[in-house]
Amino acid sequence: MAHLSNVKYSSTDWRQNKTNSVAVGIYDDLQLSRQVQGVNRELGRGISNALSANLIKGKVGEVKILVGKKGTIAFLYGLGKKGKITAEILRKAAAGVSKLCITNKVASVSFLIPKDARDSYLSQAVAEGIVLGSYQFHEFKTVGDKPFELKNAIIIGGNRKAIIKGVTVADGVCLARDLENRPGNIATPSHLADNAKQIGKSPNMKVTIFEREKFTQMGMGALAGVSSGTDVPPKFIIMEYMAGPKNQKPKILVGKGLTFDSGGISIKPASKMDEMKYDMCGAGVVIGVMKIVSILKPKMNIVGIVPSTENMSGDKAYRPGDILTAYNGKTIEVLNTDAEGRLILADALSYASKHYDPEFILDFATLTGAVVVALGHVASGIMGTDNPLIEQIKSSSKITGEKVWEFPLWDEYLDQVKSNIADVKNLGAPGQAGSIAGGAFLNSFVNENIPWCHFDIAGSAWGDKNLPYQNKGLATGEIIRLVVDLLDI
Ligand code: BES
Ligand code: MN
Ligand code: ZN
Repeated sequence: MAHLSNVKYSSTDWRQNKTNSVAVGIYDDLQLSRQVQGVNRELGRGISNALSANLIKGKVGEVKILVGKKGTIAFLYGLGKKGKITAEILRKAAAGVSKLCITNKVASVSFLIPKDARDSYLSQAVAEGIVLGSYQFHEFKTVGDKPFELKNAIIIGGNRKAIIKGVTVADGVCLARDLENRPGNIATPSHLADNAKQIGKSPNMKVTIFEREKFTQMGMGALAGVSSGTDVPPKFIIMEYMAGPKNQKPKILVGKGLTFDSGGISIKPASKMDEMKYDMCGAGVVIGVMKIVSILKPKMNIVGIVPSTENMSGDKAYRPGDILTAYNGKTIEVLNTDAEGRLILADALSYASKHYDPEFILDFATLTGAVVVALGHVASGIMGTDNPLIEQIKSSSKITGEKVWEFPLWDEYLDQVKSNIADVKNLGAPGQAGSIAGGAFLNSFVNENIPWCHFDIAGSAWGDKNLPYQNKGLATGEIIRLVVDLLDI
């Protein structure tokens, strides 16, 4: 486990928990946010020395390590202005403490939740932060010292139930990060299917896998086309969690599971092609959420669908100019084999539309480089057909701190993906509105009366953000927390 997995809640004196250290918040007026038992005897000097040396300012994002008498270790985390605590401040603070524990080889910590942080979503944010901040990916390191891991944390104060939920949610995010960070030769479609099957062992969860022969014969011509260039077995993965009333419409999550995207015959340039191992991060969102669902066991119906394959070139690969027939019978002119994500999603969205009567469908995909041009690594692009659903997504996004930005799906854009010789083509107008073209294409494969939203996570799924609860350059697991909030699990 390369992340903290043992987190407990306690309401007692931190000294009884026998952790190696204690973390407490400090406001920018230099007042502690909670009384620390034994502070005078064990830590007083350390704290007052640090304050008089101007080492601590109580600013948001600041985390300092201090040593008191008898080697007691304390972390002070900045909270900014009194009365202005937010979930994001606490998530960052808890993650900052985790990271500092790891760099200082402190194996356990008692984290004191500020006295005025009473709302349960604040407790959840602390638990999420402490776990996500401890995440490391060193599966493939075989030489050198064994990497140090944070082993135990006790969260003191706050809401017990919300803390347990936060830990479960963060565990799911870490599972997704592991799948996403693994390279294409390890995290194959079979690997994703195996993980789905593992989750499928829990109550009310049924996992079905269609192999190449089966989904081809069923009429999934788009997934069949994209996967024709690889011998690595593609999979169509369905995870059905049915714990709600029989007549309750399921909420459907669809994720792009492209385990390596070379571009196919329309091959990508070599630079950064390695990053295309992350082209299954949409699948990571779906599998991560289903893992969380399997543990929190909400009384509702949720279906996860992951079409999964590599996109390779070779004599068996599909070609620019080919016409493929998707599962809903629509024909697709392939103008660029590198716009493959929308093809495999076409079959998955058609399948979801045909076999269920969903409350809504959400899809998650590292679909376009253009979304990185538009929004950088700051936000995910969203677009869809149902305003109330989009508004709910925006409000969940505000709670979880995972930013989304809506693009329009106007008719003009829908026209741009019409083909002269087939029903649709997999490119929009050259050099224009690339992310919207992706959404406009997908729109053809969702039944008109089903509320649907597409998340283009190509900018947010891995990368660059300097957040203590993410690892620079690695997969983020972003959007999982938003979906958990939206589904109200
Ligand atoms: N997986 C890529 C999108 C991508 C590119 C994500 C770079 C993150 C970073 C997707 O399959 C793709 O190649 N999209 C093309 C679409 C184009 C051919 C219309 C793109 O964005 O260039
Ligand atoms: Mn591509
Ligand atoms: Zn791709």
